[in-house]
Amino acid sequence: MSKMTKLNNGNQIPTLGYGTFRSPESDNLSACVKTAIESGYRLIDTAAIYENEASVGKGINEAISEGIVSREELFITSKVWNDHTTYEETLQAYEEALKKMQLDYLDLYLLHWPGLDNDNDFIPQWQALETLYKEGKVKNIGVCNFHVHHLEKLLAVAEVVPAINQIELNPLQSQKKVHSFNIEKGIQTEAWTPLVNGEILENKTLQTIASKYNKTTAQVILRWQIQTNVITIPKSLTPSRIKENIDIYDFELTADDILLIESLNEDGHYGPNPDHFDFGR
Ligand SMILES: NC(=O)c1ccc[n+]([C@@H]2O[C@H](COP(=O)([O-])OP(=O)(O)OC[C@H]3O[C@@H](n4cnc5c(N)ncnc54)[C@H](OP(=O)(O)O)[C@@H]3O)[C@@H](O)[C@H]2O)c1
Repeated sequence: MSKMTKLNNGNQIPTLGYGTFRSPESDNLSACVKTAIESGYRLIDTAAIYENEASVGKGINEAISEGIVSREELFITSKVWNDHTTYEETLQAYEEALKKMQLDYLDLYLLHWPGLDNDNDFIPQWQALETLYKEGKVKNIGVCNFHVHHLEKLLAVAEVVPAINQIELNPLQSQKKVHSFNIEKGIQTEAWTPLVNGEILENKTLQTIASKYNKTTAQVILRWQIQTNVITIPKSLTPSRIKENIDIYDFELTADDILLIESLNEDGHYGPNPDHFDFGR
């Protein structure tokens, strides 16, 4: 079972969750969401742009109706996409997400991308998220892909400090600067593409560490993240990997292991760099 950590508003969030990017609508996805919940995941992460909210919601609702879990035990996240940039459009996007997922509320609603500085402003989107939060329609609100300068711009006007900043974070991109700034401001860091989409799992340094603990390289990466106060949301459509990825609460990396993992950092971007990404805005 995933452990919990506290957000800046006192609410709890699981330290590890189930990601669903590149997982199109299908009965298989619903079944995988259910497998994840049966395996102890309580956080499920989706987004409007993944175009899978209906199947994700179906898996969640089946798990609830079959008595595997209660709604209150789950922590469900979705994100407003870049084509809903006004205040009104953002409110509407939230209602659409609930309808597709067949849920009454989300535990976390995230602003997906900040956009370019001279492009559409993210402040109206954020103010809509604040309204949803203040009206009790969503339990927590946050952002994704915010660099320090984006956060500074947001915090200068925000009435609610984001609970989460979900960023690309993995051994090739340790994100020290943003993670430290998040900590300073009481914002919880959450890692996307934590496993570099499976492309770093043959790395020799990771393999050496993994063999010490009789764990896999994926488990070592995920353990490194939770030990460094980063929530992580690996995605898999393979039941054995879904179970493997949450089986990380029975070993502890040493400070030297952590230094070795962090020596792999290249400050690169596997996904888009938020400073240059205006897709859809
Ligand atoms: N906020 C954002 O902008 C943003 C951007 C990207 C992603 N995200 C979120 O973050 C989640 C995770 O990121 P991601 O899906 O991009 O990448 P990821 O979790 O780093 O990697 C997923 C890939 O790794 C494979 N994999 C998973 N566990 C494995 C294991 N134990 N051994 C070997 N291979 C394994 C999966 O294969 P199989 O599925 O074939 O098992 C899949 O191809 C997403 O699903 C999404 O929810 C957010």
